[in-house]
Amino acid sequence: MDSVQNIKEQLVQALRSATTAEQVEQIRIDFLGRKGSITLLAKNTDFSKLSAEEKKGFGQKLNELKQFATQEIAAAAESCKASAATQRSNDLDLTAPGKGRRLGALHPITLAQMELEDIFQGMGFSVLYGPEVESEYFCFESLNIPADHPARDMQDTFWLKNQVILRTHTSANQVRTLKRFGAPIRSIFPGRCFRYEAIDPSHENTFYQCEGLVVDKNISVANLIAVMRVALSQVFKRDVKVRLRPGYFPFVEPGFELDLNCLLCGGEGCPTCKQSGWIELIPCGLVHPEVLRHGGIDSKEYSGFAFGVGLTRLAMMKFGITDIRYLNSGDLRVNEQFSTLM
Ligand code: FA5
Repeated sequence: MDSVQNIKEQLVQALRSATTAEQVEQIRIDFLGRKGSITLLAKNTDFSKLSAEEKKGFGQKLNELKQFATQEIAAAAESCKASAATQRSNDLDLTAPGKGRRLGALHPITLAQMELEDIFQGMGFSVLYGPEVESEYFCFESLNIPADHPARDMQDTFWLKNQVILRTHTSANQVRTLKRFGAPIRSIFPGRCFRYEAIDPSHENTFYQCEGLVVDKNISVANLIAVMRVALSQVFKRDVKVRLRPGYFPFVEPGFELDLNCLLCGGEGCPTCKQSGWIELIPCGLVHPEVLRHGGIDSKEYSGFAFGVGLTRLAMMKFGITDIRYLNSGDLRVNEQFSTLM
């Protein structure tokens, strides 16, 4: 019976001098572990030699000791943890100089896209975003490009399952939008496109376009040229040289290529413009009657124009980026350079 009291005193003594969580843990092992003094006391006591009265009294005292030890050890561990935390916060030097905060920056393509959205919204266009995973119908068939049409070869396509594809151009939104909103309509559709391309300074497999579509009564090429002029002069904030030449796209008639005089070399010729002095920037034309028909629009009553800005290339021209591969590189230094230039 004395030993219960002795062990209790030893325990109190040990806990009093413990200052770390490791020391408290050692005390737990010494008293309550498999070979701990409380465990051994229970194990080594020959209960057969005790009277029924003594058995009862000793059992009770042993249980109280175990309970006492468990509670005291837990409390000591908790208080060691708290004082360690206080110690850590005392180590905090509030006068130390800060590490500096690195602000994020918008990607140059995002900046160019936001600017285009602003410019076109200023001209009364709405901004719509279509899906990147598209049906063959909206990407090709509804645009007058049936399965066997050679124009499909111009846009090497990533095919998914069940005739579903990664859209090769934002023109995929034309019939989608006409079906949904009808005419008159004045919208742009900026977004990401995908082609199975050989990559070089001006070609990526993942790039951005910004489609424009206007369908209304009496729309002509004059309206198309006027809108393009306003948009480009606002984007580049200076006079830019453009040229219009015939271009073929099955979903416009007539079709044009609007080229921009290369702003990187001033038209002298460089790797980006393939030494031609011109960057192919905005294919465009009057919406083909067949496309209007797919969109449920009467081509006798309505006409329209469409254009497909190469948004990635526009950003390159605007910010003087000489190689398209920088843009998808994921290198934050690319982003950080341009935010302040807008
Ligand atoms: C088209 O995609 C047509 N949908 C554009 C159009 C819209 C024509 C409306 C008529 C009416 P094209 O394949 O030429 O056309 O691409 C348009 C622009 O996207 C190009 O001028 C170019 O600036 C950009 N582009 C095309 N392929 C790539 C590429 N691999 N990497 C970067 N930019 C590209």
